[in-house]
Amino acid sequence: MSEIENKAGSMDGAGDGAAGDPQDDKGLGLGVIFFLVAFLICFLSGWLLFPKLLYSKKEQPFNFNHELHVDETGDCETCHFLREDGTFSGIPNLETCMECHTEEAMGETEDETVFAEEYVAKEKEVPWYVYSKQPDCVFFSHAAHINAGGMECVTCHGHIGESTFSRPYEENRLTGYSRDIWGKNIWGIKKNSWDRMKMDDCAECHKEETGHQGYCFQCHK
Ligand code: HEC
Ligand code: HEC
Ligand code: HEC
Ligand code: HEC
Ligand code: HEC
Repeated sequence: MSEIENKAGSMDGAGDGAAGDPQDDKGLGLGVIFFLVAFLICFLSGWLLFPKLLYSKKEQPFNFNHELHVDETGDCETCHFLREDGTFSGIPNLETCMECHTEEAMGETEDETVFAEEYVAKEKEVPWYVYSKQPDCVFFSHAAHINAGGMECVTCHGHIGESTFSRPYEENRLTGYSRDIWGKNIWGIKKNSWDRMKMDDCAECHKEETGHQGYCFQCHK
């Protein structure tokens, strides 16, 4: 056994020279640099560029200033309320806006001009994008959460009710989901209860609040 090993060893040694050959070291050094550069490019395109490509940004038809309107109405319920039958009004229709707005803009902002000319004057509903929109297979009830659960809007929606403009809606090109479902943060870290609203996030809160994550048929009908 040792004889064969010795032979092999001496043949290798003869061909390549000593292990510490300076030429070999240089090759290795360049290799490491190439690897790092390639890794960096992949890393940057994966983590920074990919989300940009994955989501398409869509502007709302015009900005809606929540702060200004909540000052005017004094509450959220003028526009978002539960009906007698327990269904949720969602985003208000044009009729609600027209309790105050006419074809004549009250102020001088471009947003209001667009609203007055394109929608009020033409009696056309505003096609708002819904940031929190879930896929059609999901059943969600506001009554269960607001009335029975006594929960605040901010828990699931964040501070939209205090905002002064409408941020763009971001749609996942592959699934068609709103970005608010999977969240802004591609590391998956969640700092606020409203950062993400995947199935796991619904179930996590249900487990905390009710001791049970719920049955499939409660959220899927
Ligand atoms: C309770 C009355 C009231 C209701 C209801 C109301 N608005 Fe307004 N809205 C106002 C007032 C007052 C202003 C401020 C006008 C000004 O610029 O002086 C305003 C301003 C605006 C502006 C311009 C704000 C800006 O900062 O550029 C837009 C756009 C607008 N409203 C859209 C809507 C839409 C859409 C609805 C329905 C969902 C609606 N409003 C419902 C009272 C109301
Ligand atoms: C004058 C009517 C009006 C009032 C009052 C109002 N909202 Fe809204 N709300 C709207 C309109 C119009 C939209 C759609 C435009 C947008 O998303 O910016 C909207 C959108 C929202 C959304 C986004 C839903 C989604 O997922 O797209 C939330 C959350 C919301 N409102 C919460 C609130 C809260 C909380 C209050 C009270 C502090 C409030 N709103 C008061 C008219 C109103
Ligand atoms: C437990 C979490 C939760 C709470 C609390 C909550 N929402 Fe929502 N909201 C959602 C989800 C999830 C959706 C999307 C539902 C869907 O797409 O079927 C939604 C949708 C909406 C929409 C858009 C509805 C539409 O499609 O037109 C508005 C507006 C809204 N919520 C406002 C509010 C307001 C105002 C409050 C507080 C009074 C509130 N929400 C409380 C989770 C919540
Ligand atoms: C932050 C906490 C929280 C989040 C997030 C949440 N829920 Fe809930 N949900 C509750 C609580 C609490 C109740 C029970 C209310 C009660 O009946 O006392 C409930 C009840 C329900 C019910 C009624 C169950 C029944 O049959 O009685 C449905 C359906 C539901 N949630 C769906 C969802 C869906 C879908 C999501 C995610 C999009 C979600 N919830 C996110 C807290 C939450
Ligand atoms: C607490 C509410 C809740 C419960 C309970 C729940 N789901 Fe879901 N499910 C959701 C929500 C919200 C989504 C959409 C967001 C997502 O993809 O995470 C979803 C998405 C899904 C999807 C993907 C559908 C698609 O179009 O992407 C499947 C499949 C699914 N659920 C199966 C199940 C099964 C099977 C169970 C029972 C073991 C179950 N779910 C229980 C809330 C729930």
